[in-house]
Amino acid sequence: MCHLTESFTLGVLMVAVFCVSKTMDQSVSLQKTRKSTNLQYGFYRKKCEKAEHIVLSTMRKLTSENSETPALLLRLVFHDCFIRGCDASILLKDPTNAGQSETEATPNLTLKGLEMIDIIKQKLENECPGTVSCADILVLAARDGITLMGGPFYPLLTGRRDSTESFYGDSFQGIPSSEDEIRNIVGIFKRKGFSKRETVALLGGHSIGSINCSIIQHRVENFRGTGKPDDTLDDDWLKQLTSKCNNKQRHSSQSSSSLLEKSKNNRKTKSNQKLSSSIPMGIMFDLHYFQDVLRGRGLLFSDQQLMKDPTTADAVRNYASGDGSDFRIDFIQVMAKLSNLGVLTGSQGQVRINCSKVNRT
Ligand code: HEM
Repeated sequence: MCHLTESFTLGVLMVAVFCVSKTMDQSVSLQKTRKSTNLQYGFYRKKCEKAEHIVLSTMRKLTSENSETPALLLRLVFHDCFIRGCDASILLKDPTNAGQSETEATPNLTLKGLEMIDIIKQKLENECPGTVSCADILVLAARDGITLMGGPFYPLLTGRRDSTESFYGDSFQGIPSSEDEIRNIVGIFKRKGFSKRETVALLGGHSIGSINCSIIQHRVENFRGTGKPDDTLDDDWLKQLTSKCNNKQRHSSQSSSSLLEKSKNNRKTKSNQKLSSSIPMGIMFDLHYFQDVLRGRGLLFSDQQLMKDPTTADAVRNYASGDGSDFRIDFIQVMAKLSNLGVLTGSQGQVRINCSKVNRT
């Protein structure tokens, strides 16, 4: 399988070829993507030689201090890229405090990890001021996090620029809800260019991270406001879910010497202030997510919906079986595709100095 190498510059191409030697198709599609997005391999090679290395080494440190880091950043990438593209608009705070930034929209209220990006950004600003965009940092850090959790490495094009706007209103339509049925889920992903199989591969992101008990409680006590549990849960699974949240597992932060605590930039967002009990979806990036869904043990209603459509159910069966290579190969491809959605390049947008604020000229 593919492993992360220290050499992130030329290495990306070599690893890509190694990882996907089975498919020439993918490199052809990456070439096409490069042309259609104006992104480049190794965009920072001359401008900030150590950029990708700094992202990786900081991710290693942050992950060793808090193993939740990769999951938080992966979810952030999904929410950023699905709302008007991978432009780091999700990181912007509303300067007017009118509650109109993307993170203040309901689907984004439980996002965490924005302060991790601030930490990486600070290191990059020290090395090469005003050069590396928050949008590139976000996708690179998520990619490195996945690899640190045992997932596949995927080469990423760089050269994204940052948005000068936050899209509060778009968040409500663009991000699926955990109570959505399969038709809505595949509809939302289709609008972003993902097939049903690609949607299932992307949902493999739920291999790592945790789910807040409030979401589980909703499902087991008052699903869609009915005052009853979700009727797709069998009795045994209902009991297990109830007890998982009753034995509350506190997800605490990291040691006092951590990078996070040292960060002067440590953000206090609504979401990261209200850490509450949560249950793990998974620790390592492997096939357990698909195996659970196949057994009717998906944690979210939306996860379990993947078994309700013949095409998505086939993909779940395929990914859950074998040595995991089908999932890993598809995941490489969909993460690269997700990371290239609606990017700003060239003279569009800006390279923000502080990821939570637009630069004022
Ligand atoms: C139908 C689509 C999706 C729905 C409805 C959904 C919903 C959710 C929900 C409700 C949570 C728990 C949030 C919390 O406890 O506060 C969650 C967590 C997570 N999601 Fe998704 N998600 C979807 C797709 C994705 C995709 C495509 C990815 C990445 C490629 C992703 C990555 C994650 C990760 C890594 C976490 C764990 C975050 C953590 O540990 O805090 N999700 N998702």
